[in-house]
Amino acid sequence: MKTITVFKGDGIGPEICDATLQILKAAKAPLAFECFEVGEAEYERNGKLIPDEAYASFEKNRILLKAPITTPIGKGFKSLNVTLRNKYDLYANIRPAKSNTAVKTPFPDVDIVTFRENTEDLYVGVEEKIDENTVHATKIITRKASERIIRDAFQYAVDHGRKKVTCVHKANILKMSDGMFLDIFHEIAKEFPTIASDDKIVDNVCMQLVMRPETFDIMVMPNLYGDIVSDLTSGLIGGLGLLPSCNLGSDYAMFEAVHGSAPDIAGKHIANPTAILWSACMMLEYLGEDACAANIRQAVDAVLQEAKVLTPDLHGTSTTEEYRDAIIAHLQA
Ligand code: NAI
Ligand code: MG
Repeated sequence: MKTITVFKGDGIGPEICDATLQILKAAKAPLAFECFEVGEAEYERNGKLIPDEAYASFEKNRILLKAPITTPIGKGFKSLNVTLRNKYDLYANIRPAKSNTAVKTPFPDVDIVTFRENTEDLYVGVEEKIDENTVHATKIITRKASERIIRDAFQYAVDHGRKKVTCVHKANILKMSDGMFLDIFHEIAKEFPTIASDDKIVDNVCMQLVMRPETFDIMVMPNLYGDIVSDLTSGLIGGLGLLPSCNLGSDYAMFEAVHGSAPDIAGKHIANPTAILWSACMMLEYLGEDACAANIRQAVDAVLQEAKVLTPDLHGTSTTEEYRDAIIAHLQA
């Protein structure tokens, strides 16, 4: 039995998180949960977006299942997501987008894994007001951070029988920063002679992803492009409700849906919990509980395939809880 930390999040966070925990229990996942309220409501109550006990629990358990948290736009709030990624050096953000035969899209053959560098680039959040009409933002790219994310992408390709890694960049304009990322990519590619490699400029990648997504395999890129391009890949497979992720460092691992707290549908019980549920499956696989993850994946596939109980983002009329119960019924059948 492994104990994990759970952050329930804001907006749709608690709804999709509760559904996921109930499905994990129904699947007899060998897990114990330490659950924490985090985010805006917690801030109103105790003046902290993440309470100290929640941090302490993650530091003890080293594994976090995290629901989305709202980042208020404006001054004074650093994104909690960026904070967590930096505090625990969760440098590799891995986002697998795979078509599901049950979800009708124009793209039946998408199977793309995005490796997003998670600790630097423009997301260091260093902005400086030069005068009333001028602001500078700092983009940081280091050899250390670039090497480790690029090497992880190639190693993943080897471990998972994949064929190609594509470096996504803008080195034609950002010659020094993205230029160095690209040079390091070419260096590391030589260490992996069995894996094909190429590189593409990020705007061209966006066009090609919506024209020929089946030609992409593994992609690796700096932080900002990874944030944007991975949302694009979620659109190819049927939307944000279907894109899971893990954030890995050397000591800690955090599993979460790619999407945010969806304030527009919060409290309506129509959010799709699949992305966070599949993130929980990635967590089970990370823990070596492959059989349990496979059972859950099969139950989800069956419910999607039957297409009777689907949330509105997948053109259904069911609630989060009805969808959860349909998955649980399959697990118990
Ligand atoms: P969002 O991802 O929350 O929502 C974008 C659109 O997708 C909305 O129309 C929403 O209803 C829909 N959507 C998202 N997840 C869905 C689901 N599971 N089922 C059905 N529909 C879903 O992005 P938005 O609106 O830009 O951000 C809202 C808040 O979330 C912001 O405060 C932002 O900072 C935060 N955020 C947090 C993240 C995290 O905690 N990892 C990641 C991204 C955003
Ligand atoms: Mg994002």
